[in-house]
Amino acid sequence: MLYPTSSESKLTKESSKLAINGGTPICQKTWPTWPQSNPATEKAVIDVLRSGRWTISGFTNGKSTQEQIFAAAFADFLGVKHCIPTDHGTSALELALAACSVGPGDEVIVPGLTWVACPYAVLTNQAVPVLADVDPHTMCIAAESVQQLITPKTKAVLVVHLYCRIADMTALNLIAKEHNLVLIEDCAQAHGARWRGRSVGTIGKVGAFSMQQGKPMTSGEGGCCVTDDDELADLIYRLRTDGRSFLPNVQALGKMQLWEHGGVAGRNHCLSDIQLAILTAQLKDLQDQNARRRENAAYLTELLIQLPGVSIPNFHDPEDEETYYHFAFFLNEEFLQGRSIGWVSEALSAELGIWVHQPYVPLNRHPLYVPEEKHWVKQCTEAREAVRKDQFTLPYAEEVYGKTLLLHHSILLAEHKDMELIAAAMKKVHEVGK
Ligand SMILES: Cc1ncc(COP(=O)(O)O)c(C=O)c1O
Repeated sequence: MLYPTSSESKLTKESSKLAINGGTPICQKTWPTWPQSNPATEKAVIDVLRSGRWTISGFTNGKSTQEQIFAAAFADFLGVKHCIPTDHGTSALELALAACSVGPGDEVIVPGLTWVACPYAVLTNQAVPVLADVDPHTMCIAAESVQQLITPKTKAVLVVHLYCRIADMTALNLIAKEHNLVLIEDCAQAHGARWRGRSVGTIGKVGAFSMQQGKPMTSGEGGCCVTDDDELADLIYRLRTDGRSFLPNVQALGKMQLWEHGGVAGRNHCLSDIQLAILTAQLKDLQDQNARRRENAAYLTELLIQLPGVSIPNFHDPEDEETYYHFAFFLNEEFLQGRSIGWVSEALSAELGIWVHQPYVPLNRHPLYVPEEKHWVKQCTEAREAVRKDQFTLPYAEEVYGKTLLLHHSILLAEHKDMELIAAAMKKVHEVGK
């Protein structure tokens, strides 16, 4: 059922008035909230609270740590050897870069359309973020742009699988091989996405995930690094744990399991056992939730592309399994008819009672991205010049910003028929003038 067009039925004066202008909204239902707790998650938290051990740096209680349990389960789910949990996705990125020896004098190519944590993770390691443009069809970093930005100082490429699409790993792998660059995959938004049969995060040297509240799998805050490389995994572990390593053999009750062997300048980016237990419980639901999101996204796509001026970001290959942090759709002038996309997002939000919004502001003009304010940058003329954001032009990132609207993945957990309400709201906003 779609919102009837004027040719199909006469709109009443009231129903044709947009909700943003005081009319009746298309939808007054309650949409699924996020995050979602369940009895298993609640029991997992209570079990940890009663266990006497709330973190790996606590004394052993004779049982596997929550970290061991989650790390093994997530590594198995992804098909990778090692998973090292971290307190945030940002720290996972910082640690991944540090472990790959990214440091002063290095350049790291980062997409110009992503969350500010990406370039800041590079700056935290005193390296220079170089902003690449994106592919306007997938919104992810464009291999052609990466190719153009490579200099003798380029050490790594930070690939982000953005919103609901997977970056072109075939082209990026080729470039990385040719120029001996490290590929780090930021999978903060793509838990369980698969590219040519492989989980994202396992294709580059290291994958970094975020488990912050809005993400498709969450413990409120959290993250992890994943890799197949034993040495790199050990280094990330030690960098994350103040230089300490975990002794796999169960120690006598009441003893520490962390071995203070030093040798690396580490910091504490550990996740608490309470959060890890939440993640283990949430992981059990991830595949079913991803399947439901995919199913609803396919139906919503089918409905939306019937509307004038609406299209959907491209797939690379029908074999790939995308996941959804946000469902993205593109609007052209045929839909907008002179109205700004910002206004359309407000009008849709009012019709649906959910937040429909634009993507990230491109980094070269993002108000939160102020690399010149980093302490080490302030002290170095060369660095100030190297990080200047006005040197980067990102026409495709601007195009994506100007044509895209996003719906949070929790909306895709609603009933199948609820997708029709979204299409109906789109139809109403398209048909009823400003
Ligand atoms: C692409 C991307 N990278 C990194 C991060 C940082 O993750 P966190 O908020 O867990 O530090 C985010 C968070 O939104 C993100 O979207």
